[in-house]
Amino acid sequence: MTNSGCTKKPGKDIREDFPILHRKVHDHRLIYLDNAATTQRPRSVIESVKSFYEQTNANIHRAVHILSYEATVAYELAHKKVAQFIRAKSWREIIFVRNTTEGLNLLAYALGLWHLKEGDAVVITLMEHHSNIVPWQMLRRLKGIKLYFTRITKDGLIDLDHYMELIEKPEVKVVSMTMASNVLGTVTPFQEMVHEARKRGKITILDGAQAVPHIPVDVQAIGCDALVASGHKMLGPTGIGFVYARRSFLEELEPFLYGGDMIETVTTETATWNELPWKFEAGTPNIAGGVAMSAAIDYLQDIGMDAVYEHEKELLEYALEHLRDIPGIHMYGPEEGPRLGVLSFTMDKAHPHDIAHILDEHGIAVRSGHHCAQPLMNFLGMDNAVRASFYIYNDKDDVDALVEALKKVVKIFRIA
Ligand code: ALA
Repeated sequence: MTNSGCTKKPGKDIREDFPILHRKVHDHRLIYLDNAATTQRPRSVIESVKSFYEQTNANIHRAVHILSYEATVAYELAHKKVAQFIRAKSWREIIFVRNTTEGLNLLAYALGLWHLKEGDAVVITLMEHHSNIVPWQMLRRLKGIKLYFTRITKDGLIDLDHYMELIEKPEVKVVSMTMASNVLGTVTPFQEMVHEARKRGKITILDGAQAVPHIPVDVQAIGCDALVASGHKMLGPTGIGFVYARRSFLEELEPFLYGGDMIETVTTETATWNELPWKFEAGTPNIAGGVAMSAAIDYLQDIGMDAVYEHEKELLEYALEHLRDIPGIHMYGPEEGPRLGVLSFTMDKAHPHDIAHILDEHGIAVRSGHHCAQPLMNFLGMDNAVRASFYIYNDKDDVDALVEALKKVVKIFRIA
């Protein structure tokens, strides 16, 4: 495990830093296994929001008073922190948005309104979250673009042969795909896929919502044109996320939202755009959120992203080994290849919502439902599943508790 220079170790020891993990749920210790939906926040992130509003609060880029100056510096520093975290060349390549969904909409609309024309095509994959499907479907209605889905295998891996076939098509202008499935945990071969698409002159976009919080990411090594992620899935507040995009790509792109702060000059006739990244950040942004997302990155860097990934891998292996013995369980996700700490399953006779309800009675929070990935769920032949997803503060005793509670489900529904 690489953890040099890092001061924190994932697991039980850091639970102390997360106030919510000390609350009781139905008289049980809270066991939070819904991390793919949103993670919990450490005290340093909560303090960062509080301290911003208590000490610094003012609008950015608008006034000469000291509060505005300090808020502007803190907000810009947050962009620099994100740039350094994902190894972007410049902080001007980082645009703050509300979340991954907004980031993908920004890219889809900016490309769709100005660059894509009828008959052009976008390639996505069958394991996308709805946020990387629906914006492109809207462009299909609005502009008459085509949308191609890369097939996946029964094991939940990308069908690379099909992908290569699709990106050979001359009408394909954009490839937009997830780095990791929020249902299966599959880490896609995104670097290879980006490389092949770029070699053929396609624009490449990565949905990093599930990957950036869990694995080391180097956008320059990956070579993508753009990557999007959310702060709330990596210890940060809700309502803040980011788009990374190569500077030359951003310079060619028209803004998506128009109004305050994104302009350089406005006349009654027209307007010119502010410098990067402000050209894409119209209106007063979530300043405190941006600053607190930077505190979240500090926390993750105190652990080290290699250690984060190793920890989750160990937990996943432990969970797979122990859940396998539960009677009537069906687990989804690839047996081979890199995979995040995401474990979706169904059980004979018991509906996923009923399972989740029983787990909740034992203090265990999981997600049940279609996981905002209905095309993937249809492909897998199910409407709903239970999903347990791990993060840095989970430990093997959380998995043990899950296993014990599932044995009760087996009893209640007389599965065995
Ligand atoms: N995208 C989040 C999830 O998969 C909400 O649960």
